[in-house]
Amino acid sequence: MESATGLPPIDCDTPSALLLCRGHDNLSQGRARTTKNGELGKDLRSQRRCFAPNGDAKNFHYAPMPPSPVSLSPHSPMTFYSRASVYSAFFAPSDQMKGSIDRLAKFALKRAPKSVLDPCCGPGLWLEHFAKKGCVVAGSDLQAPAVASAEARLAGMRAVVAEGDMRDPPALLGASFDLCINLDNSIGHLGCREDVIAHFIAMRARMQPKSAYILGCAIREADDVIIAETVYERGPIEVAGGGFAALRTETLGIDPETRCERIRQWTMSAHVPECPPLIIEQYDLLTFGIAQWKEMFEASGGWEVLQCCDATTESLPSRPFTRGAGDVVLLLRPRIAATRKKSTRASATKKAPQKKPSRTLRKR
Ligand SMILES: C[S@@+](CC[C@H](N)C(=O)[O-])C[C@H]1O[C@@H](n2cnc3c(N)ncnc32)[C@H](O)[C@@H]1O
Repeated sequence: MESATGLPPIDCDTPSALLLCRGHDNLSQGRARTTKNGELGKDLRSQRRCFAPNGDAKNFHYAPMPPSPVSLSPHSPMTFYSRASVYSAFFAPSDQMKGSIDRLAKFALKRAPKSVLDPCCGPGLWLEHFAKKGCVVAGSDLQAPAVASAEARLAGMRAVVAEGDMRDPPALLGASFDLCINLDNSIGHLGCREDVIAHFIAMRARMQPKSAYILGCAIREADDVIIAETVYERGPIEVAGGGFAALRTETLGIDPETRCERIRQWTMSAHVPECPPLIIEQYDLLTFGIAQWKEMFEASGGWEVLQCCDATTESLPSRPFTRGAGDVVLLLRPRIAATRKKSTRASATKKAPQKKPSRTLRKR
């Protein structure tokens, strides 16, 4: 039933395959894409009857909210993220989004980036954008199928990709990047504050002084309420490699205890090789309030927030880095470079006030 060829037409009344992943025992994969697109939503409503089932969730059982924050769990090969062709069909960045990201990079670096790291690269869509501009690119991801897809996409370009955890991306990717990029609140898939700090420490160890980190994340306060609603809906659209797919992402709100936002995602497909007609998955995304973000920046050595942008609009307009900012893209710079420079100069001056700082010191 799942092969590309010889598929019978989908019977809209009885789904031929169904995957229901319960809570995050089965999952830690997924996404919250908050951009809302009314027109694309219309697409799905007018054509939904071609897809099975009819979207009525009443026959499914959903697990209760977990008692503790999400932890990394073994990854189901059935998840949306492992369906690289379907993921890419929906989330290839638009020209507008590419322009917005290029603008942020230029703002921070005062030039185009030369080397780029994506520690949650998925099928390498952002890496491809930068590789095509002549950058050396590197990426890693937990999902082997996503890494394989990124490898294929970047073949022949100056790129290295590998399986790896964003808390400690593989050493073979290299270091000294001048731009890191990690969008769509992928950082929310981590398990807790300590994981996020480990990630920030790992990133700064791989970044040059005066480099930049473009991070998509959510700033939510304890008293913020998220209304359960559909946050993304699109399709059916054609999938490269064969078939069609439609996607719906819903937020189920925030667990007041864990501060995790629960996401439910429906992927419906027809004739997509190796993809069941329906994948329903739920996962919890970590969120933090402004004070917690600031505390984690300090605990990981200090990060300067160069810009805070509204992530729900692809033009990425600026918004204050403040309480309840919601889904944002942050333009960050590790503060260590400036601190080191200052303190090295200060101590050099203190120890040998008669000497000028060396050429090397001045360069740092
Ligand atoms: C929203 S996608 C982003 C993919 C890519 N950066 C993009 O913008 O298209 C999130 C990715 O994070 C990956 N991921 C989740 N937890 C991870 C972890 N701890 N380390 C590395 N990758 C992880 C998932 O497998 C998935 O491919």
